[in-house]
Amino acid sequence: MADNPTATTETTGLNEAVKDALDNAPTTHAHLLAWVREMAELTQPDRIHWVDGSEAEWTQLTDELVDAGTFVRLDEEKFPNSFAAFSDPEDVARVEERTFICTRTEKGAGPTNNWEDPEVMRGTLRKKFRGAMRGRTMYVIPFVMGHLEASRPSYGVEITDSAYVVCSMRIMATIGAPVLEKMTEQNGFFVECLHSLGAPLAPGEEDVPWPCNPSKYIVHFPEDRAIWSFGSGYGGNALLGKKCYALRIASAIAHDEGWLAEHMLILKVTNPEGKSRFIAGAFPSACGKTNFAMLEPTIEGWKAEMVGDDIAWIRFGKDGQARVTNPEAGLFGVAPGTGWPTNPNAMRAIARGNTIFTNVALTDDGGVWWEGMTEETPEHLTDWKGRDWTPESGRPAAHPNSRFCTPIKQVDILAPEYDDPEGVPLSAIVFGGRRKTTVPLVSQSFGWEHGVFQGATLSSETTAAAKGAVGVVRRDPMAMLPFIGYNANDYLEHWVEVGERIGEDEMPKVFYVNWFRRTPSGGFAWPGFGENSRVVKWIFDRLEGTAGGREAPIGTVPTREDLDLTGLDVSDEELEAALKVDVEEWRAELPSIDEWFHRLGHVPEPILEQRAGLEDRLNQA
Ligand code: GTP
Ligand code: MN
Ligand code: MN
Repeated sequence: MADNPTATTETTGLNEAVKDALDNAPTTHAHLLAWVREMAELTQPDRIHWVDGSEAEWTQLTDELVDAGTFVRLDEEKFPNSFAAFSDPEDVARVEERTFICTRTEKGAGPTNNWEDPEVMRGTLRKKFRGAMRGRTMYVIPFVMGHLEASRPSYGVEITDSAYVVCSMRIMATIGAPVLEKMTEQNGFFVECLHSLGAPLAPGEEDVPWPCNPSKYIVHFPEDRAIWSFGSGYGGNALLGKKCYALRIASAIAHDEGWLAEHMLILKVTNPEGKSRFIAGAFPSACGKTNFAMLEPTIEGWKAEMVGDDIAWIRFGKDGQARVTNPEAGLFGVAPGTGWPTNPNAMRAIARGNTIFTNVALTDDGGVWWEGMTEETPEHLTDWKGRDWTPESGRPAAHPNSRFCTPIKQVDILAPEYDDPEGVPLSAIVFGGRRKTTVPLVSQSFGWEHGVFQGATLSSETTAAAKGAVGVVRRDPMAMLPFIGYNANDYLEHWVEVGERIGEDEMPKVFYVNWFRRTPSGGFAWPGFGENSRVVKWIFDRLEGTAGGREAPIGTVPTREDLDLTGLDVSDEELEAALKVDVEEWRAELPSIDEWFHRLGHVPEPILEQRAGLEDRLNQA
């Protein structure tokens, strides 16, 4: 080590190591160099590391994280090249109340986002970031969301002082030297993503395994296409390519450019005749996107493959054809509930290794465990807080929001079209939520605007409902409530306008599903998971024009005869409960829709007309 690595010179306030890293940067991209220098002057790191994304770098960083106590190396046989990390107990999830959309006017952020004036916020954050990287390394991660071969690659650069973030970003996105080279060559535009744990180290101060700061800010400047994230190391707050860029900033870009950035899975379905179609699905968090994306059909001759499990970018060609890409290179999935019985495809992907687990439990033989992973519960574990755990402990061994971070290429049902930078043609959009009542197994909208109305009023209820009370229904437009990077009314208007521009015939057809309806006796009416392939078949055949259905006030729904129920173990009562459209239940839905529209304030006229149309049809039924 140098005599005094934090010593600074008068002129630039940067130490020799940092100045050296700036002078010998692996790029001539002038804007990038200027930005990195400015951020270094602000945050005062000890060193700068230009991330190249190589295997050697991964080895170096993971070794360092093991030494620092951030990572536990897992058993090489069971989980090759895999690690478990344990966060600060206060840094385990996205922090929506600390997430801001900073547009020039408050109206720009709309009624559903936290807003602050951009200049005021930048002032606040500059104070927070001043000296925030003292004693630490500043990593500069060039990355691209989607394909590097795209006609206009979606570049980003994340500056972070967290090696955990660097390793996770290497899984979730394409990063490093090839990206920087192309971005430099094209002098490409990139989204500035600044991240700090907010935990500077004084000279000689010992580090903790998971540094973070109790004061957290996840801030988006959609007009400047910039992200500033402070105080958290958790994925959703710190891996800035994912929710912050690919949803919040991208949704604002998509609004300006006429496309859609959505919280959707992408599924490829092939029928027994060998014809394939692509379907996207928007379900709120914990409503089954990853499971649906990895569906194993239970019906003869049908095949399902995955293109994406969380984010979809939908663009429209000159011919009006919707084409969709998954901008991510990895899975960042909820661990609990992911197991061999329900999602073997995810389990196989994880078992190949190269995975970072966060806040799961450790087994005594160097493996990991979480609730729902296996049918049998291990007798002894180390829980996510590092305490001894037995089934008698009376608390979960893994945090309910524990995650696995795994390269998407390890999914063996990944559709080959995943690699197509132009994306795949999109035939249908499926909305879905978690509703015990009212919403039937599946319905098809009467057209684009009706579909937008269905998406705008998408609802889901909390599973941990209060004793005796009916589940609390929460509206979550297009499953995007936490991720719309601008005014939600403008977002809905944009959906309407895209349909007008492209034309009804060319637009994907819209469906609405509910895997979670209950029978009068309280059980799930529909078995779900692989059996959802029967619903997929109906959707596919509706697109082909070969499946029947009946017009209900809420849309076209299948009768029993319209669904393939061969070999399905479901009682008449359950099927009735799954498929029923109850006019009284739907009438009771209207005041809650009105309340939601009132909160939004400026719902586009065509959506209000759809609301009136629904009431008329219910009155005539
Ligand atoms: P995020 O990754 O947080 O956005 O959530 P997600 O939409 O990917 O949800 P995920 O697939 O992880 O599933 C969440 C929960 O829904 C799990 O507990 C699953 O077991 C459950 N689930 C998924 N599909 C079905 C289904 O068809 N039927 C039933 N009953 N439960 C399901
Ligand atoms: Mn998921
Ligand atoms: Mn998600």
